[in-house]
Amino acid sequence: MASINKQECFSVALKLVKEAGNLVRDAIKKKKRIETKSSAVDLVTESDKAVEKLLISGLSSAFPDHKFIGEESVAAGGKCVLTDEPTWIIDPIDGTMNFVHSFPYTCISVGLWVKKEAEVGIVYNAVLEQMFTALKGQGAFLNNEKISVSGETELSQALIFSEIGSSLDPEKVDTVLTNITTLIPKVHGCRTMGCAALHMAHVALGAADANYSMGVHCWDIAAGCLLVQEAGGVVIDTAGGPFDLMRRRVLCASTQELAEKMAKLLKQYQPERDGVTK
Ligand code: IPD
Repeated sequence: MASINKQECFSVALKLVKEAGNLVRDAIKKKKRIETKSSAVDLVTESDKAVEKLLISGLSSAFPDHKFIGEESVAAGGKCVLTDEPTWIIDPIDGTMNFVHSFPYTCISVGLWVKKEAEVGIVYNAVLEQMFTALKGQGAFLNNEKISVSGETELSQALIFSEIGSSLDPEKVDTVLTNITTLIPKVHGCRTMGCAALHMAHVALGAADANYSMGVHCWDIAAGCLLVQEAGGVVIDTAGGPFDLMRRRVLCASTQELAEKMAKLLKQYQPERDGVTK
């Protein structure tokens, strides 16, 4: 198996993400060419494709042995397989709906996983110039300043994110609405930004206390989960129990206590796993 120099991987990826960020910052102001994917609200633009191409070509020339899972490559029929090999998991524009509307909460998300563990996480909101980074065992940072979760344990004091998602499957929509209805009277505040990686980054920052989602893909959360863990938070399955990146469900929180309180309340929804070949 290819061995990795985590610091070198991080430096190369950071440089490419900054370069890709220039492209996003420029394109968000302009008219986009929009196509739909799995549903009428699951979108892709020429910028999603251009950013993914820039990142994968830069990373694969620096690390020819590494594997890739990229949102738009998978949409175009590419593989979505997580092995023990070093694998870059990329969402070129997370929050494409926001990007299309020039709503400035959109980001580039890049995670490097090795032996099915997150080693590097980068989430960059290029529009607001917020660079969230984490290396396993070395903490989490926003624009080079160390960040940490809030430490909140009480639901009644928690500001939480609920994910609406980009599926119009009636069972999924019903689950989203049921969970929001359950949680609103119990939490301090419930918000949705429409960008899974930024939701997680804000939990890492201590600007929100928890986030849950059923229906996200591995590329939406591969970097965000490391940010939360390195900021001192927890990442579990929405029903409680261990987090599984390919299961398409995530609950992250500032504390285990808060995460477990939320997991007990949530109605569950299980979409098809990532990586299932038909
Ligand atoms: C979407 C966003 C959204 C989440 C969806 C994702 P995309 O990512 O992260 O917040 O609810 O499930 O698909 O498609 O814009 O990269």
